[in-house]
Amino acid sequence: MATYRIRHCEQLGGEVNLHSAKNAVLPILCAGLLTREPITIERVPMLTDVDTLVEILSECNVNISRNRDELTLWSDDPHSPTSENLLSRMRASVLVMGPLLARTGYVRVALPGGCAIGQRPIDLHIKGMQALGAEAQLTPGSVTLQGQLRGGNVYLDFPSVGATENIILAAVLAKGATRIENAAKEPEIIDLCAFLTEMGARISGGGTGTIFIEGQDSLHGCTYKPIPDRIEAGTILCAAAMTEGSVLLRGVRADHMRAVLFKLAETGVTLRESSAGLRLSGRASQPIQVRTLAYPGFPTDMQAPMMALALKLRGTSVFLETIFENRFMHAREMARLGASIRIEDRIALVNGGHLLAGSTVSSTDLRGGAAMMLAGLAAEGETILLDPQGHIARGYENLPAMLRELGADVTMDDLDSMEVHG
Ligand code: UD1
Repeated sequence: MATYRIRHCEQLGGEVNLHSAKNAVLPILCAGLLTREPITIERVPMLTDVDTLVEILSECNVNISRNRDELTLWSDDPHSPTSENLLSRMRASVLVMGPLLARTGYVRVALPGGCAIGQRPIDLHIKGMQALGAEAQLTPGSVTLQGQLRGGNVYLDFPSVGATENIILAAVLAKGATRIENAAKEPEIIDLCAFLTEMGARISGGGTGTIFIEGQDSLHGCTYKPIPDRIEAGTILCAAAMTEGSVLLRGVRADHMRAVLFKLAETGVTLRESSAGLRLSGRASQPIQVRTLAYPGFPTDMQAPMMALALKLRGTSVFLETIFENRFMHAREMARLGASIRIEDRIALVNGGHLLAGSTVSSTDLRGGAAMMLAGLAAEGETILLDPQGHIARGYENLPAMLRELGADVTMDDLDSMEVHG
């Protein structure tokens, strides 16, 4: 059982390097299904979500070799994954659908799992594949798609990140031209398009609402380094702001996180970009109003870490979650530390500035778990954060070590050797 011990932290200070973005790496790894030639991905973060996807891709008959943080993948004869429980462990596993269908004309996948932050259907993924000529058969718990794909026009009712990626991953090998309208604009989409272009795909409009893809007969190998993780960056900045720290993030893409930086600046902290990186310093004091939206709006993945920061801001901060319907689970855990939070449907009112006291709390989901680690830094005394499902390690490469580099006292412990209180 992953269990973290977090001690109150007065002030964070120093410098940290960011890892590559989980949400960029996962779709890129799925492109290993698209070609016989090796693709090499550099600086792959050590995350359990990456390990799970590697297991799933191996089941799909993708060859994978690992050299430290480099992964090389290629597939001569890929097929649908064999076991169902891997897919139910992780939402992004649905991204094998598009490339397998495009390459082989057939795919069967179990309906995916992941964080329980909402219903998370995959209707838009399936509609996209149907628009490219696939026939879909739904049974309880799984979907089968078949047919030789041809280009088509896809309109997404919502700019879903995963559906946009899945359709791009299919359309690059479909016959003819595809146009995706109301596409997601996230930096991870731009990165996927840049990577596929290196493989010989012809794509334009990545990062805008309309993406054009000219399908190719085959794609070739390449070597690629994904973008840095803007959510990891935002999480560290929130930790720094909570503790009146002065922290330099190296290797950050500030242009990928403008909405988060504007919100941080509204709290009163100072942000400075230089050739060395992005520095946050000063005192966060003003409450904020946050509405999660598709990119370039405020990312839903930053809602929980930002709520941890709001616990320190005197006055009422308001959070409106518009992307996922069940993404305030961390609020209950924050209340165990003494936080005053009222939830009304999709709105959370955080009455900040109260003294927080260390206690035993749980990690409810990936970003909620990280937010609890930050809340533990702000709480007096010691906080024990229980994460039996290993949510945090799914998406952060050793977050405790990153915080320790900045002077925090956060350790990962064996539950058996600890005294649990609260
Ligand atoms: C991705 C990210 C996740 C992030 C989310 C929103 C990855 C691996 N994960 O998840 O960290 O929180 O984007 O930025 O990149 N929807 C449908 N039907 C569909 C697909 C989605 O109704 O077929 C809905 C979802 O239920 C949700 C909304 O669209 O309400 C956004 O989901 P989506 O953008 O697809 O998120 P993911 O790709 O799952």
